[in-house]
Amino acid sequence: MEEKASTAIAGISHDRDSIINLDHGDPTMFEPFWKEIGDSATVVIPGWQKMSYFSDPRNLCWFLEPEFANEARRLHRIVGNAVTDDRHIIVGVGSTQLIHAALFALASTEARQPVDVISAAPYYSMYSGIADFMKSGMFHWAGDAATFNGDDNFIELVCSPNNPDGEIRHAVRGNEAGKRVHDMAYYWPQYTPMRHPADHDIMLFTVSKATGHAGTRIGWALVKDAEVARKMAKFIEMNTIGVSKDSQVRAAKILKVIAEGYELPDLEAGSKFFHFGRCLLANRWQRLRQAIKVSGRFSLPQFPSEFCMFFKEQAETYPGFAWLRSEDQTIEDLEVFFKTLNILTRNGRQFGVGPEYVRVSMLDRDANFDVFIKRISSLE
Ligand SMILES: Cc1ncc(COP(=O)(O)O)c(C=O)c1O
Repeated sequence: MEEKASTAIAGISHDRDSIINLDHGDPTMFEPFWKEIGDSATVVIPGWQKMSYFSDPRNLCWFLEPEFANEARRLHRIVGNAVTDDRHIIVGVGSTQLIHAALFALASTEARQPVDVISAAPYYSMYSGIADFMKSGMFHWAGDAATFNGDDNFIELVCSPNNPDGEIRHAVRGNEAGKRVHDMAYYWPQYTPMRHPADHDIMLFTVSKATGHAGTRIGWALVKDAEVARKMAKFIEMNTIGVSKDSQVRAAKILKVIAEGYELPDLEAGSKFFHFGRCLLANRWQRLRQAIKVSGRFSLPQFPSEFCMFFKEQAETYPGFAWLRSEDQTIEDLEVFFKTLNILTRNGRQFGVGPEYVRVSMLDRDANFDVFIKRISSLE
C-alpha cells in the first residue's frame, strides 16, 4: 500500500498539501444562491417573540410552528414530490431525530425481542449507528435488507433517492407485514427527476438537503397514521421538549423564498432555487464523469434520463454523492487511495459493501470540488 501511495502522490501536480474533506455531505454548494438572494431570506426575531415552549397546543405535534407547516405543504405542492393531504407533520431536529422517533414509534414497548431494523446495502452509513447507539431493548440493527432472513417483525429504512448511490429505491421487503420508513431527503428536483408525488406511510424530509440549511437542523415527517405521529411527537418531547422555534421560523422563511421564486411571476430567473441547484450539479457531474473516463481507474453509476414533472422536460439524475468504484486491480481500498491524494472520502464498508467503493460528496464549495477534479485529472 505504501508503494501505491507514493505512486499516487507522484501523479499529483498541484495543491497536494491541502486536505479536501469530501467525507461529509455538508451542503455548502448552495451558499452562493442564498448570498445572491440577500435580505429577502433574512429572518429577524424580536427578543420577546417565540419564547413559549408551545407552538400549537391543539396540534398533536404541539411544538410545530404553523407557518413552518404551511410552507412545507406549499413547497411539496409546488414541487409535486409528496402527498401532504391528510398527513400529520412532525417537525424534528433534522431528519436524524425523526429517524430515531420513527423507530421508537414503530417498535413496540411491550415486545420481548427488539425489532430488526434493516436497509438494502449500500445503505446510508448512519442507519446502523442510529439503530444501535442507545442499545435500545425495542429495536436493533440487523443489516442488509436484501439478505435479511428474519420474520415479519422488522422495520425497513428505504432511502430514495438512495444515499450513497443515488438510485431510486423501493422497499426490498415490500410485500411483507413489516413496517417501513421512507427517507426522502434527496427527493428534490436538483438531484433527480420528480416522477410523481410520493405517498408512503412515513416520509422524511430535511432542509439540510432540500435547501442546503444543514445548520438550521430542521427536518419534517409526513405521517399517515395519527397514532404513529403521536408516538413520534412523544419521542421528541422526551428527547428535546420540542424543536427550536427560531429554527422553524428560519426554515419557514427559506421554504417561502423558494416557493415565491416559482409562484411570483415577476421575479428574475436567478431566484429559482431548483434551477440553480440543478445547473451547478449538472456541471459538476459532467466534469466528474469526464475526469473519471480519462483516468480509466474508477466507475460511477449510470442513470437513465426521465421525464421530470417539475421541470416539465426530460431530466438527468445528479445525486448529492458520487459513488465511486475502483476498476483498478491495484487499488483495493479506495478510501486509502484517495487519502494519498489528500482527499477524504467515506469507505464502502460503512455502507455495508466493500472497500472498493467510496462515497464522495458532490455538495461542497466550488473551490474544494475544483481541487478534487484537478487531483483526479492529474493522476497518471
Ligand atoms: C439519507 C439521509 N437521511 C437523513 C440525513 C440526516 O439529515 P439531517 O439530520 O441533517 O436532517 C442525511 C444527512 O446526510 C441523509 O443523507
